[in-house]
Amino acid sequence: MATPTPEEVASFYETAGGEEVFHRIVARFYEEVAKDEVLRPLYPEEDLGPAEERLRLFLMQYWGGPHTYSERRGHPRLRMRHAPFAIGPIERDAWLRCMRTAVDEAGLSDQHRRQLWGYLEMAANSLMNSWT
Ligand code: HEM
Repeated sequence: MATPTPEEVASFYETAGGEEVFHRIVARFYEEVAKDEVLRPLYPEEDLGPAEERLRLFLMQYWGGPHTYSERRGHPRLRMRHAPFAIGPIERDAWLRCMRTAVDEAGLSDQHRRQLWGYLEMAANSLMNSWT
């Protein structure tokens, strides 16, 4: 499964468990990023807390939760916001590896896990901007 239907997105936030679930997934993801030799050097700030909050708010908004991300950051424009970082297959794989750990440990139903994972794989592929 890749892109979810609008109906799936509309119900995901509530049925998956709301903010608490997104908090858990993204916090776990950044625990992995903090120890990842490929990813950690890409993050410009020493404190990963603000980056964690941005990703959490973005995912909550994408999956049908509050629109706090856009109130604070405007339109997501993720390709543009990732342009400063060289993202090739190695970086994409590292990102997905950290995210896989976080999603697998989140206690989601099989359906929610598959839906979320399909989206994250598709999104990570679409943000690649380097093939060297
Ligand atoms: C920001 C790396 C994939 C969503 C960032 C930042 C880095 C980064 C270094 C800057 C940290 C910050 O200050 O916020 C990567 C790499 C990826 C990847 C290496 C591998 C493919 C994704 C995917 C998503 C995503 C798949 C969404 C599903 C975001 C968001 C921000 C961000 C929402 C903050 C944008 C903002 O408001 O400034 N990413 N990212 N990233 N990333 Fe990624």
